[in-house]
Amino acid sequence: MPQSGTMHLQTFLTFVGLLSPTLAQRILPGAYIAEIKGANSNDFLNKARSSGIRVRHRLALNQETSIFNGVSFDLEDDTADNRAIIESWGEVVQLSPVRLYDATAPVGRKVTRDVATLISRQAENNLTVDAYPPHLQGNVNKLRAEGLTGSGIKIAVVDTGIDYTHPSLGGKFGPGNKVAFGTDLVGNDYTGENIPVPGQDPMDCAGHGTHVAGIIAAMDKDFTGVSPDVTLGAYRVFGCPNGVAGSASNDVLISAFLQAQADGADLITASIGGPSGWTEDPWALVVQRIVEAGTPCTIAAGNEGDQGLFYASGAADAIGAISVASINNLNSPEVLTSAKYSSGSAGTKDKKFGYTPAVGTFGSETYDVYVPVANGQISDGCAGLPDDATALEKKMVVIRRGSCTFDDKVKAAVAKGAKNVIIVNNVPGTIQASVTVQNVNVGMVEPETGDEWLKLVTGKDSISVTFDKSAPVFITAVANPSSGGSLSIFTTWGPTNEMYQRPHIGAPGGNILSTYPLIFGGYAVLSGTSMATPYVAGVIGLYLEKAKKEGRKVTPAELRVGLTTTGRPLVFNDGTKNSTFLAPVAQQGGGLVDAYKFLNSKTVVDTDLLEFNDTQNFHRNRDFKITNNGQETINYKLTAIGGATAYTLNQGSTLPSVFPPDMLESYASVTIEPSDLSVKPGQSKRVVVTVAQPAGIDSARVPVYGGWINITPDKGEDQLSIPYMGIGAAMKKATVTNFEQGFPILLNSKNQTIFVNGTKVSQAFPPGIAWGLALGSGVVRIDVVSVSAPDSNDVSVFTDKTVGSFPGYPSYWNPRTEADKNTTSLWRGRVVKKEGDQSVRVPAGTYKFVYRALKMTGRKETGRDYERWESPSFDYNP
Ligand SMILES: *[C@@H]1O[C@H](CO)[C@@H](O)[C@H](O)[C@H]1NC(C)=O
Ligand SMILES: *[C@@H]1O[C@H](CO)[C@@H](O)[C@H](O)[C@H]1NC(C)=O
Ligand SMILES: *[C@@H]1O[C@H](CO)[C@@H](O)[C@H](O)[C@H]1NC(C)=O
Ligand SMILES: *[C@@H]1O[C@H](CO)[C@@H](O)[C@H](O)[C@H]1NC(C)=O
Ligand SMILES: *[C@@H]1O[C@H](CO)[C@@H](O)[C@H](O)[C@H]1NC(C)=O
Ligand SMILES: *[C@@H]1O[C@H](CO)[C@@H](O)[C@H](O)[C@H]1NC(C)=O
Repeated sequence: MPQSGTMHLQTFLTFVGLLSPTLAQRILPGAYIAEIKGANSNDFLNKARSSGIRVRHRLALNQETSIFNGVSFDLEDDTADNRAIIESWGEVVQLSPVRLYDATAPVGRKVTRDVATLISRQAENNLTVDAYPPHLQGNVNKLRAEGLTGSGIKIAVVDTGIDYTHPSLGGKFGPGNKVAFGTDLVGNDYTGENIPVPGQDPMDCAGHGTHVAGIIAAMDKDFTGVSPDVTLGAYRVFGCPNGVAGSASNDVLISAFLQAQADGADLITASIGGPSGWTEDPWALVVQRIVEAGTPCTIAAGNEGDQGLFYASGAADAIGAISVASINNLNSPEVLTSAKYSSGSAGTKDKKFGYTPAVGTFGSETYDVYVPVANGQISDGCAGLPDDATALEKKMVVIRRGSCTFDDKVKAAVAKGAKNVIIVNNVPGTIQASVTVQNVNVGMVEPETGDEWLKLVTGKDSISVTFDKSAPVFITAVANPSSGGSLSIFTTWGPTNEMYQRPHIGAPGGNILSTYPLIFGGYAVLSGTSMATPYVAGVIGLYLEKAKKEGRKVTPAELRVGLTTTGRPLVFNDGTKNSTFLAPVAQQGGGLVDAYKFLNSKTVVDTDLLEFNDTQNFHRNRDFKITNNGQETINYKLTAIGGATAYTLNQGSTLPSVFPPDMLESYASVTIEPSDLSVKPGQSKRVVVTVAQPAGIDSARVPVYGGWINITPDKGEDQLSIPYMGIGAAMKKATVTNFEQGFPILLNSKNQTIFVNGTKVSQAFPPGIAWGLALGSGVVRIDVVSVSAPDSNDVSVFTDKTVGSFPGYPSYWNPRTEADKNTTSLWRGRVVKKEGDQSVRVPAGTYKFVYRALKMTGRKETGRDYERWESPSFDYNP
């Protein structure tokens, strides 16, 4: 969900009136975080009250740690004046609006009550045998075979809480249990927008956190997480006002991270985020400080892959955080409802099959099956049903998927009197068919079931199917040949607005089975970077367990570097098929996590990413150090491989491409010095990498190139790959404002239309300005110029003489505006003369607005680094 980083008081927009604006960033109106020094939250609140500023306390953000000291509060009279007074106090380091984040929303959801038939470990009560497919994908099973289970490691999960009553998650909460620590920071009724009401019990009432927790640490005979012996902390930051998770505000997130750190967590993980791309949001700053103080943090890269490049998410963009991308499960676990079929001959009796209900219910009934056959296949029904389709009312009509819509097929059956229809899928698995036809029950079976039925009817046998209303669901694994094993199309792409590479590493996150609250069925299949992040958290749990056994201290940087450089780069997949070229680094970072290599590599390097920046801030070379931690001398060969170069912008446009962006197989030419080297045990050697831009790229479209420096040792198999990444354009030349779709727009708030010259505006009918960003901008400012009384323009803003700035502006650290959205602000005749001052009224007169947006890499103090737009003038009369 949209949000963004922020430095000072800013981007508070007053939205009263007729316009109902969409925020490009989700800010909680009237709520602020003050970072303070030399005072505590009570001192601060007392000072506010004695100054006549009415505040409602939200949270004390101190936890007696040196990481962050602050307070969050609601400002009852939320005026620029009140904010300016607070900002002027010496103890206030920084005042920032409270922002809202979502649990990186799972994509799709299937739930089951049946635990016994889960695809899983397969070997009962033998923890060393791990056959769970996603664990094979990331080589977790090899570590399990060595006896690593995460024992002795504490992982804090900041999420919707955990259903610790789940048998796979220990059954109880508190010391000595699997879910041993943590707290509820918000209460059930918390929406993100109301005041959190903390409690003691981090029980999950929304589902997300229980799924995340199971991926890390589930443990029962059928199903285990990545590190089933770790101890979990549940830090609940979401309520469940309507049975689903609301949002979490960043003051709550900060509080949760501070508490988790103070409680001694070895790792903090959060599957939470929203578009940002700037490292200056207070939550991102707190994450950065926690990492710097020695506690690693894993954070979901985001599920906004559909928005294309340059859409990094907060706080995955925090400096030092490990940002995790999603890779699809090789298999898709299918949750099917069970039913039985029998043939008329004695051959098949009560054979189990599964289906996915679409509309209606088949009840507890037995139906004779009618299977129309055309050209040796089950008919697709697109040309209607054949003449032998009679007396269908009591029968189950079976039709093959394809060639026309589900509705067309169902209508063809209904036209012949059918009331019950099963569609046979034409690709692996089943889906919930979207059918709008009324008074008919529809479900779908897998192609294999259809094949069995076809064989029977072509053998002149008859079939009957029997359904039971209360039949259990069960799970099967269906191979996913179109996108299994590849990056999920929803995984968010980097880089950040400051040209840092995100994500670092990917893990299975698409189509993942895990624990779910018992009240919702016990297990569910969900997709998201939310599911990939706890996988990596679990892998870190195994790493820390091993290091602890060896008596070794581990730094967050060692984990970040190790995970990223032992990853396996993957080819690009557009959701339907693999390409021949490697997916851009901006999408995958190091690629698929390899837990075994991560824990066993004898060779280590001292950098996770080689970032070459844009052409203007270009680093011609970057260097790193190779260390041989093995027992014998190793000779290394260093080579470069390229990932596809991806264009950020559409052809001939200033607007970003949605997924998939255009890509080309043109690679940077990379020189590695030395490319052959010999390193003795315990020794380190330095390597320099020089990059030249890929040939034939169109810099106007902001190409992002990258690849990997492969380090291949002559002994053992621990090849490492360090991702490199750069931008083949001068970002300062790229247009940040969405001028292309007509923004900014001067609005007439009376009827929400574009302002028409000559319209009279007043405080009751204020003019508005709507703006949108094609790329992130560190500063957006709007200033007010008097046209009728030029002498009253006493404030200089670069080349303009103005009466002052639009209250609430400048707005700092703005992510780019999501496609088809804009940010709208209304002006009520007040201006701020100097940033941080109180606003003052302007007299009646003719005015215009001047909008400016700072270009990427631009300097805040340099006028020509901004784009400028001037509104038509308007007559204002209070
Ligand atoms: C700006 O956003 C608002 C709220 O979503 C929407 O009603 C309006 O149409 C948008 N304006 C333009 C010009 O797109
Ligand atoms: C578990 O499986 C491993 C590998 O097959 C085997 O060596 C071990 O004896 C088994 N342990 C038990 C308790 O069955
Ligand atoms: C597509 O690529 C992924 C990642 O490299 C791989 O796991 C998968 O097997 C490939 N799929 C096919 C059908 O080749
Ligand atoms: C790229 O250059 C800009 C401008 O100097 C700087 O702000 C930014 O931090 C640099 N990014 C990286 C990854 O070095
Ligand atoms: C909106 O209001 C303006 C000025 O009051 C008027 O000129 C314009 O026609 C109105 N537009 C619509 C669509 O009603
Ligand atoms: C509105 O006024 C501006 C000057 O402020 C002028 O440039 C523009 O052409 C006018 N637009 C219309 C539609 O009259």
